[in-house]
Amino acid sequence: MTDEINIAFRTAEGETFRVSGLRGATVMETAIRNDVPGIEAECGGACACATCHVYAPETVGEATDPYEQDMLDFTADERRPNSRLSCQIELEPSMEGAVFDLPGVQV
Ligand code: FES
Repeated sequence: MTDEINIAFRTAEGETFRVSGLRGATVMETAIRNDVPGIEAECGGACACATCHVYAPETVGEATDPYEQDMLDFTADERRPNSRLSCQIELEPSMEGAVFDLPGVQV
């Protein structure tokens, strides 16, 4: 079994970036390593900036951590029920093929 997991990011303009990352890496790290535009990650993954906001597919699930939920409040009008901070999502095999939508702007 490989530890590489294939995911994709889709921009608000409809452009898709297909990338792969290692199991256990975060979705944010995988985006940054692959130069995916639209993930700023100003705090470097400390769950303290909300500039790594993505819309997660159903297979990933909604934010349950209260701290992540609080930080998502900073995404304001861009927030949806499936909003997540990508630095808080670790890649796992069940995410193979997952597509993460990017908001039009990061706050
Ligand atoms: S990188 Fe700052 S909250 Fe995710």
